Amino acid sequence: MNIIPDDIQKYAEKYTTKEPGLLAALNRETNTDFLFPRMLSGHLQGRFLSMISALVNPRRILEIGTFTGYSAICLAEGLSRDGILHTIELNDENEPKITEYFKKSGLDQKIKIHFGDALEIIPALNETFDLVFLDADKENY
Ligand SMILES: C[S@@+](CC[C@H](N)C(=O)[O-])C[C@H]1O[C@@H](n2cnc3c(N)ncnc32)[C@H](O)[C@@H]1O
Repeated sequence: MNIIPDDIQKYAEKYTTKEPGLLAALNRETNTDFLFPRMLSGHLQGRFLSMISALVNPRRILEIGTFTGYSAICLAEGLSRDGILHTIELNDENEPKITEYFKKSGLDQKIKIHFGDALEIIPALNETFDLVFLDADKENY
């Protein structure tokens, strides 16, 4: 099903900043090596998240639903100098890929990954968030 009309999709693709090489590689590997790769945000959404983050320039970001780490890297691009992004993922099978790409991005010191159920982890985070990306567990929104 196409939610976005083709001409609008083409326009957005034409005028959106090119997908950075590292994220293109993660996108490709997620599509070849993981189940349900469509969960990954991808080029357009990823650049949109990066732009929002750059506009807010947050000190603290909370992301719920890391998957392979694509959107976490996009959001972390806009963090302030002393900023930290907390990202929560239920499935720890993805850990090697997530840590590999956080390291390659050079943003690994600014990203804290928590494995487990966000419903249990969030109350234990002693933080106030400037930006939240809720991308998991839709029944519990
Ligand atoms: C749509 S994917 C996230 C995609 C990712 N934000 C991206 O753009 O690449 C949703 C992820 O949330 C995880 N998830 C589902 N329920 C969760 C929960 N209660 N707590 C933490 N993570 C959860 C799933 O394992 C899945 O990897």
